[in-house]
Amino acid sequence: MKTLVIYYSYTGHTKEAAIELAAKEAADITEVKDVRRKKAFPLGCLAAIRGKAWPIQALDKDPAAYDRLIILSPIWAGNPPPAVNGLFAQLPKGKKISVKMNSAGGQSNCRERVKKVIKLKGCVLEGYEDIRVPGKDAG
Ligand SMILES: Cc1cc2nc3c(=O)[nH]c(=O)nc-3n(C[C@H](O)[C@H](O)[C@H](O)COP(=O)(O)O)c2cc1C
Repeated sequence: MKTLVIYYSYTGHTKEAAIELAAKEAADITEVKDVRRKKAFPLGCLAAIRGKAWPIQALDKDPAAYDRLIILSPIWAGNPPPAVNGLFAQLPKGKKISVKMNSAGGQSNCRERVKKVIKLKGCVLEGYEDIRVPGKDAG
């Protein structure tokens, strides 16, 4: 089964986790990048709360070519960042998807929102996890 790890990272924590996971799963990896990096506070947070999607650059791996996708994302204001909503909007139909949401608190409001979006795209949500990722200085 071919697996692709797809991640978005603003300050680097999720990138580290994604690289580690891809190595463990022997999976390919690709990064979601904003077309134009805007301020996370407050613009990004407001867009995240409203469930807005921001345009993302073309991925350097095609998710359609994989059986299973693992999406790693930070939490912004309790929700997926707008770039990750941009990714959700272009998911290919019929994929098995696991989602891992990193946050400082390890909790979010968005499990149901993510489930709904994945289902709407005709994909199967195999797993959803909220993961607490302490800041580097917090150890
Ligand atoms: C704009 C912004 C909003 C955030 N909102 C939350 C939040 O609502 N709850 C939380 O626990 N952590 C929040 N965080 C912390 C991040 O989710 C957490 O540090 C994550 O691991 C960062 O991932 P990254 O380094 O890959 O960007 C926020 C961080 C940013 C930059």
